[in-house]
Amino acid sequence: MTYVRACRLSELEEDTPKRVELDGTPVSIVQTEGEVFAIHDICSHANVSLSEGEVDDCHIECWLHGSRFDLRSGKPDALPATRPVPVYPVKIEGDDVLVSLTQES
Ligand code: FES
Repeated sequence: MTYVRACRLSELEEDTPKRVELDGTPVSIVQTEGEVFAIHDICSHANVSLSEGEVDDCHIECWLHGSRFDLRSGKPDALPATRPVPVYPVKIEGDDVLVSLTQES
């Protein structure tokens, strides 16, 4: 599995998503509840950036219609979105947040 550096751990703020582009793929990096998650940054319902939404209870909420995606699985827990968004494996090495674009689910 190949990991690429996404950002520095020290630049992340709790519950504040950070949008990065990895090999042309938009990814939202989220530090919450003591863990760091990487989730595809486009809502599965429409072309909207999830990193502009709020984080709560290990979910990220789409600001446009309010579907909430589980940061662990990418699955939505409320309509109108019905399809999951990809989530990606994360590794922390020192101050580096590394992400593998291999899809987890
Ligand atoms: S665009 Fe995200 S829920 Fe509609």
